Amino acid sequence: VSSVSEAHPVDLRSDTKTRPTDAMRRYMCVAPVGDEQKGEDPTVLVLEERVAGMTGKDAAVFLPSGTMCNIIALFLHCRPGDEVLTHRHSHVAYAEMNGPAVHARVTLLLLDGERGILEPSNVMAGLDRTRRGASGARASLLSLENTHNVSGGAIWPLRLQQEVCAVARDAGLATHLDGARLLNASVAAGIPVIDYCTSFDSAWIDLSKGLGCPVGAVLVGTAAFIDDARRAKRLFGGAMRQAGILAAAGIYALEHHVARLADDHDRARRLGEALAALDSVVVEGRPIETNIVHFDISASGVEPAEFLARTQALGVRFGLVGGSTIRAVTHLDIADEDLPTAVSAVRAGVSDPA
Ligand SMILES: Cc1ncc(COP(=O)(O)O)c(C=O)c1O
Repeated sequence: VSSVSEAHPVDLRSDTKTRPTDAMRRYMCVAPVGDEQKGEDPTVLVLEERVAGMTGKDAAVFLPSGTMCNIIALFLHCRPGDEVLTHRHSHVAYAEMNGPAVHARVTLLLLDGERGILEPSNVMAGLDRTRRGASGARASLLSLENTHNVSGGAIWPLRLQQEVCAVARDAGLATHLDGARLLNASVAAGIPVIDYCTSFDSAWIDLSKGLGCPVGAVLVGTAAFIDDARRAKRLFGGAMRQAGILAAAGIYALEHHVARLADDHDRARRLGEALAALDSVVVEGRPIETNIVHFDISASGVEPAEFLARTQALGVRFGLVGGSTIRAVTHLDIADEDLPTAVSAVRAGVSDPA
């Protein structure tokens, strides 16, 4: 078994790259556990109660992944053949293996909106399309994402989120929030999680992103919804046994890794500023709102694949958003001293080797 503190490259591809800290691992080791599938794991129950409390919902269920949170929500809110309104670039639309079609047997009605954020008019346009649609399909759910991942970690303005949800509710739709990075939004905007969740029938937070846990997400909603979600969890093979080992990481992270998300945001902002000063680099979505920095390298003439190979060879890993847009995400395993290393790697990555 290799050491926990072994040397790693500066990995800015995603906040999913975090490894549990030594303290988190120690906390996990001593967690009381039981048979989670039977509702007997005390640590899982503590985590669920805590997340239900912080989101202001009746109940919560610990799930293996955020993807399963989305799938179970769609499965429960919709009937086969229904339509789900969501932003064109939402994770559920582009990155979940067509799970909505496969598991919930719904279609997605893709909406437009700047930086992953919808206006009431965007939702109304979608509703109008379903009403006029020759398919006659029923629109049953609006699914939003806060922060918005592929828009560079954009935060939903609270008032707008409430207005958009009100439009959906008035039309008889349920509302669901993909909160993979909701805690980033909450910390950055200084708005309590509970306020972001009020307009939604269901919501979830991810433990394995900025919070630094190895596994897990927590879905919340009414008691009846979560009761059904527990059945769906088992149906989809997500029920576990001594899962308290994993839930303990979540409890530890909620106590120790939430306020520090502000450090990730600060580093992302500083990284964005430093990259913006480089020739041939255009930083998108400034000022950086949370922990995700997108920058375009097309002016350099360097192919994105070549850029990624060059920077990786220098010990810094970036992600590719698409086209010539590169992604850098700050997280628990990125320190202040990694920032100059990352900036130097970008400078070298975009320079003409000749
Ligand atoms: C916005 C968003 N939703 C859902 C997911 C899926 O979460 P998980 O990786 O826990 O399945 C991700 C993962 O990157 C995400 O960024």
